[in-house]
Amino acid sequence: MKRFRKLLIVGLMLPLISDAQEKGLKDYYRDDFLVGAAVGYFFQQDEPLMALLKQHFNVVTPENQMKWEAIHPQPDRYAFEAADALVDFAQQNGMKVIGHCLTWHSQTPKWVFEHPDGTPLTRDELLARMQEHITTVMTHYKGKIHGWDVVNEAIKDGDDDVVLRDSPYLRIIGEDYLDHSFRFAKAADPSAELYYNDYSMADPKKREKALILLKGLIDRGVPIDGVGMQAHWSIYDPSIEEIEKSILAYHNLGLKVMITELDLSLYKFDDRSKPYEEAIPDSVLQLQAERYRQIFELFKKHSDKITRVTFWGVSDRHSWLNNFPVRNRRNAPLLFDREYKPKPAFEAVIKAAQQ
Ligand code: G3I
Repeated sequence: MKRFRKLLIVGLMLPLISDAQEKGLKDYYRDDFLVGAAVGYFFQQDEPLMALLKQHFNVVTPENQMKWEAIHPQPDRYAFEAADALVDFAQQNGMKVIGHCLTWHSQTPKWVFEHPDGTPLTRDELLARMQEHITTVMTHYKGKIHGWDVVNEAIKDGDDDVVLRDSPYLRIIGEDYLDHSFRFAKAADPSAELYYNDYSMADPKKREKALILLKGLIDRGVPIDGVGMQAHWSIYDPSIEEIEKSILAYHNLGLKVMITELDLSLYKFDDRSKPYEEAIPDSVLQLQAERYRQIFELFKKHSDKITRVTFWGVSDRHSWLNNFPVRNRRNAPLLFDREYKPKPAFEAVIKAAQQ
């Protein structure tokens, strides 16, 4: 009898135990914002990755699959297969998808800006090519994409007052190439949210430039819904204060604020040393956890302004930071280690949700 009672109690508790095990990041932040991850090409051959995606995330971004060179490699050839695979996976698992990205100076083939003989396109020719690309890609995914990074990384780095970076788009079309991108996108899928996305968005000078750019778009009636702060940060910087100033400043323009490519490198940006090839000291992982905790407490504080927080990857095994800025250097910027196990940073992010 005693044994039966014990079995009964364990039996009754089982659903509770498995519920607790199933609870993921997205559930802890359900009332705050969407929680996302960038997903690379080979996710379907990676069972542990797919399990983590299903448990913890409710929105995915294709890490490379929708970039121009990937999805439209030749003038009259589109290659949707890789991106389709992720969109299908997301739909089957009730996740949203973010389209990344339509207009970017990088990962865009040279032919986009040239005639076959190598002479540059005219403004009207490039606008027509942009419109064709944006319309074809967005129409293919119409109704399946929650929001698009329409323009990526258009702002110039540096302490000068030049807002737009030099690029073939700027040289050939002029400053209004952003306006046109957003307008083409709005026409192609009026139901998708449209974003401007960039890095270093918590840096004071870049923020100043971003505010000029974004305010200009809004004043001209350009259809933009939100701004993505990429958040390729480190365990050392930027400060919580600067991050907060940026969230508030972009929100005050009336835009949705998103954290779109979050990872916390173990290295300062100009550090090229390789101290952690054998092992990463616990003290460093603890420092990272503490930073993640502070950052997520800030996000939670401003959850009325932030609609999504997306990590740029899931496991340290696949992070782009293992190859940038030093090729083949061990980095560990995410919440799950190379064996897909939760790190102290993961616990810290959960803790921040419960504050
Ligand atoms: O697909 C080729 C493969 O055929 C080739 O053998 C191999 C050799 O290097 O390269 C493969 O392409 C790589 C691609 O990722 C897919 O893995 C490129 O070399 C590599 O440069 C590319 O890096 C991506 C980078 O953007 C450039 O597009 C990273 O994975 C991706 O994480 C990174 O993401 C960007 C965001 O889009 C925008 N914000 C910054 C962020 C980090 O740089």
